[in-house]
Amino acid sequence: MPRLPIVVLISGSGSNLQAIIDAANKDLPVEIKAVISNQPDAYGLERARRADIPVAILEHQQFPDRESFDATLADLIDSYQPQLVLLAGFMRILTPGLVRHYHGRMLNIHPSLLPDFQGLHTHQRALEAEVQKHGASIHFVTEELDGGPVIIQASVPVLPGDDAETLAARVLEKEHVIYPLAVRWFAQGRLSLNERDQVVLDGKILAAPVQLEQAPA
Ligand code: GAR
Repeated sequence: MPRLPIVVLISGSGSNLQAIIDAANKDLPVEIKAVISNQPDAYGLERARRADIPVAILEHQQFPDRESFDATLADLIDSYQPQLVLLAGFMRILTPGLVRHYHGRMLNIHPSLLPDFQGLHTHQRALEAEVQKHGASIHFVTEELDGGPVIIQASVPVLPGDDAETLAARVLEKEHVIYPLAVRWFAQGRLSLNERDQVVLDGKILAAPVQLEQAPA
């Protein structure tokens, strides 16, 4: 199977990037054309370099506004001609223009069971809300922040004695499973967003996000 060219955007540790790199080294049919970070010291850049993946740094502080940063970012992404763009811990709010440009070909991972806990500090907020179940979601990126149609989710229990760190670690393990899986479906041509912004998987419109336990291979 031909490998799908992808670009991955990060801001931090890049453990989700690592999960994609590891899967691509096995049987995930993607080629990571570049890893782009807005943070020059993001550890994920080191992971990319180690895997011989081209890296690019675009510091948002060097731009007068969001629009000019995003315009340059889009040009940079497009220079690698990806068919799919992954946000993997990319901690920037994107402008509507950029999001529209990648409509149907940009995915994000969010550390909560969306639509719960959009935005930041999701683990702390889940603890404060005393939910019993928490998790992570992969969704298509649309103009609504953390509001795009969800493809797949994985849940974890919230355990007595959890703090934000222990909970985050439990969620992260699941993130590393669901992101490569969603990317696989996309690369295999089984996953898309239709003109009504509905997720289509294996020819069927999803009525609800796939839950990892019931996910097709
Ligand atoms: C992950 O938990 C991801 O879900 C989250 O940032 C972390 C990045 O970790 N993303 C967001 O909060 C997006 N709003 P990583 O750099 O180790 O992949």
